[in-house]
Amino acid sequence: MRLPFLTLLIALPMSAQTPTDRIEALLQRMTPEEKIGQLSQGVVHTPEHAEAAIAEVRAGRLGSFILSAPPEIATALRNRLQHAAVEDSRLRVPLVFGADTIHGYRTTFPIPLALASAWDPSLVERTQAVAARETRAAGIEWIFAPMSDLARDPRWGRVAETFGEDPYLGASLVAASVRGFQGDDPGAADRAAATLKHFVGYGATTGGRDYNTTDITPFTLRNAHLPPFEAGVKAGALTVMSAFNAIDGIPAVANRQLLTGVLRDEWKFPGLVVSDWESVTEAIKWGYAANDAEAARLALTAGNDIEMVSRSYRDTLAQQVADGTVQLGVIDQAVRRVLGVKLRTGIFEKPYADSDAPQRAFLQPESVALAREAAARSLVLLKNDGVLPLATSARRIALVGPLADDATEMLGTWSAHGRPEDVVTLAAGLRARLAQSATLTVARGCELLPAGPRTRALPDGSVVIDEDATRSSVTAVEADFEQAIVAAREADVIIAAVGEPRGWSGENASRADLSLTGRQPELLRALAATGKPLVVVVFSGRPLVLTEIANQTGALVQAWHPGLQGGPALAAVLCGDLPPVGRLPISFPRATGQVPVFYNHATTGRPEMVDYRDLTRDPLFPFGFGLTYTRFEFGDVEIAEPAGAGQTPVARATVTNTGERAGEAVAQLYIRDVACSEGGRPAQELRGWQRLTLAPGETRTAEFVLDDNALGFVDRQGRHRVESGDFKVWIAPHAGSGKAATYRKK
Ligand code: NOJ
Repeated sequence: MRLPFLTLLIALPMSAQTPTDRIEALLQRMTPEEKIGQLSQGVVHTPEHAEAAIAEVRAGRLGSFILSAPPEIATALRNRLQHAAVEDSRLRVPLVFGADTIHGYRTTFPIPLALASAWDPSLVERTQAVAARETRAAGIEWIFAPMSDLARDPRWGRVAETFGEDPYLGASLVAASVRGFQGDDPGAADRAAATLKHFVGYGATTGGRDYNTTDITPFTLRNAHLPPFEAGVKAGALTVMSAFNAIDGIPAVANRQLLTGVLRDEWKFPGLVVSDWESVTEAIKWGYAANDAEAARLALTAGNDIEMVSRSYRDTLAQQVADGTVQLGVIDQAVRRVLGVKLRTGIFEKPYADSDAPQRAFLQPESVALAREAAARSLVLLKNDGVLPLATSARRIALVGPLADDATEMLGTWSAHGRPEDVVTLAAGLRARLAQSATLTVARGCELLPAGPRTRALPDGSVVIDEDATRSSVTAVEADFEQAIVAAREADVIIAAVGEPRGWSGENASRADLSLTGRQPELLRALAATGKPLVVVVFSGRPLVLTEIANQTGALVQAWHPGLQGGPALAAVLCGDLPPVGRLPISFPRATGQVPVFYNHATTGRPEMVDYRDLTRDPLFPFGFGLTYTRFEFGDVEIAEPAGAGQTPVARATVTNTGERAGEAVAQLYIRDVACSEGGRPAQELRGWQRLTLAPGETRTAEFVLDDNALGFVDRQGRHRVESGDFKVWIAPHAGSGKAATYRKK
């Protein structure tokens, strides 16, 4: 008779069984194959996938799954597989299920780059808490987020999934995401395990091309790319995903110095590391491993615990243990980490998902309200000559552009199970807001992408260009364009809704040219030429090059891909019901040839000479920039030296609302270490920010302590240090602005 070991174990009071006892008891009973099974991850999208995996689950040869199935069938597929694990496998270890909930599961929030624009960790935490609740309800307790990569090259499509170019802002938002996903107890029914990904350097991909290699100096790695991960580890993230890229020639998945040296030895990360999709066997294509066995061995011994999708662990490790190439102890250690995470997610106690949970959790009114708040707070006003907020005298509004009324595009990249039918577009949002007060004419004007030739199939199956259909489609396109211009000419104000297709950002969606796509530039030129007041709203997953339109338009709003409540949020801001409060988390280039352009660059030996012959080095809009419906004046920075031992200096500056409306200033603390023995630090580094809500005429003081966290850096050995000497200190509305004071650290 089979011993109902786990049943007994679970039946024991928790106090009698520490997690370590439970893990060790299980380990002792596992065969090498069952251990390797815990380190192997499958993927299930359809019922057929589930059926195909049942035999392996029963044999204990798979320990986790990516569950990407639509929510209608996700809980059933999970329960089917889980039944095979907890009823039919020898040791009854439950499976853990993971998925990519990047900016909401069913309730789609703005993309992460947009959320970063709110500069508000509590907002990020709240959106991630909703995302965790909905994900967990769909039978998934492991979320493959937050993306903790730094992105300084907007050609890279995955910039959309990041929190931007700054390690300090990124670290705050990564930590907030971990708190949002996991709460106090990742095993709770409305929480999930977080994954810090992609460890590390994925965002530094050469040429902005996805999956490319990286060349990162040790100093930049320590001070730019690692801090968001370290913050996530400190916040208690249960898991980390190793990256696709190689660093210094070594694929991240097999990089022992980083996965073990930094993550485990230095940071004491206790959780598990999962590879990215098939990246263990990609070590072969990188030219680092000769075959599957070597790839598996290198990844595992480097510290990569779970292999996602590819099968080299399953296929080769048992033999490598048998012939002594791989020590069983290394496998045991990885299994301990996996079981540790499984225990923390509560699946031993509650292995099955409730089939009616999704209905109860999805699209709760307060979640939808939060999506609206997040969308409103992540818009960034980049230019305003006074056309915004829209005057109540504007009776006829022309809303023109391919993104005026396109629900699907608003969802952005990687929108999990968000649906276009839940989206309120800008057209719908404005219509509802303006109701009786103005008439709204909506015209697409042009497509997002140039229309290609129309084709038709011949009876023999071959495809040819259909000249007639092509001609009439060109005529229709021209008619659309003309109609939009006519509507614009007849309006009191024009709102143009333009941008890039959502599929042009995200994974495997890099761009070599950051212009508005298709005929949009031409459309904007024609709209500007009408001479009517013009507001341009840009929906994109990255900073686009907006140089020409920034000159032509009266107002420019960066709306990113705002999620399902983008329409009402934009309508509220455009009409002045809410002020724009967002600030850029990433610099906007003037031309594609200017990238990478980011504020925290090296000072250089000839700072006055690093321009191009044909362009300045300055971005079009700098990091931290964003306007609102009032104006702020920043006073000079004053530094109060510490009065006594053990006290920290404080930097202060007044901020005055000199406009006619209430508004939120974001006072940003930047520092520069004037001379550093480890090598030059960046020209400016963000080390704090404070949001000040000010009535017209009101003055308040922004205050920051200049402690070691604010002034320090990480040396090449990973030690957090601060050196004595001079520091420049700015308290300013954005990078590159304001006058610095000098603080001399003794
Ligand atoms: C590949 C992506 O790089 C990663 O972010 C994602 O979590 C996995 N695929 C799983 O879908």
